[in-house]
Amino acid sequence: MELNYRAPRSLDLPSVTCMVRAAFDRFVAPEWSVGARANFHDEVSEENLARAFASAFYCGVCALEQEIIGVVLFPSPRLVSLTFVSPAHVRRGIASTLLGRGVRYVEQHQPEISVVCLNATRNAMPFYSAQGFFPISPEFEHCGTVATRLALWLPYYDSLHGIARRANPAFNRTRRHVAATRSPSARRTG
Ligand SMILES: CC(C)(COP(=O)(O)OP(=O)(O)OC[C@H]1O[C@@H](n2cnc3c(N)ncnc32)[C@H](O)[C@@H]1OP(=O)(O)O)[C@@H](O)C(=O)NCCC(=O)NCCS
Repeated sequence: MELNYRAPRSLDLPSVTCMVRAAFDRFVAPEWSVGARANFHDEVSEENLARAFASAFYCGVCALEQEIIGVVLFPSPRLVSLTFVSPAHVRRGIASTLLGRGVRYVEQHQPEISVVCLNATRNAMPFYSAQGFFPISPEFEHCGTVATRLALWLPYYDSLHGIARRANPAFNRTRRHVAATRSPSARRTG
């Protein structure tokens, strides 16, 4: 079955919410306090996600038929706030593709921007490192959450070629997958 990278639709909201909560419970919740876990579940309600998608600079999902198995959200051009992939579909290049499409959108539409930042969960550190992000803070705790502030210097592909390929042997395989799946046309979302 073919993966479809596109903009989120309102009909996707139940599937996105369900997938994000499942990925969070599997990969992130063990690092966070009980209260912080409950807050996260509340924050990714369908209503809140609908608002976040509507006001986002860029958002995209990966669909497998009717099911949403990945999502990325840039609330603003310099910030990524949500990168989640279904636990059943990790390590297939889905998050790399979603993030890469978002970063390319930033480069095409806000070329003056030189850095994109995010707060990474502990489990996602190897993933972001493979994409060329670097820590710009120590790991910190905030209201029961645990994260590290990371930054990616643009241009994305130049920095990956210069830095990540040496740092991460998986680089070449990941980049080939992204190149094979990327869309030639720039769009606001998807
Ligand atoms: C982090 C996450 C988004 C990665 O999604 P994914 O689709 O599996 O990532 P990709 O397949 O694109 O991974 C690309 C590369 O990143 C690295 N990587 C990804 N997950 C990794 C892991 N668990 N351990 C080590 N390296 C990892 C690998 O180099 C991988 O390439 P490879 O599979 O060829 O070795 C996913 O595990 C997830 O949803 N986690 C829970 C939510 C979360 O923490 N999100 C981040 C919030 S800041």
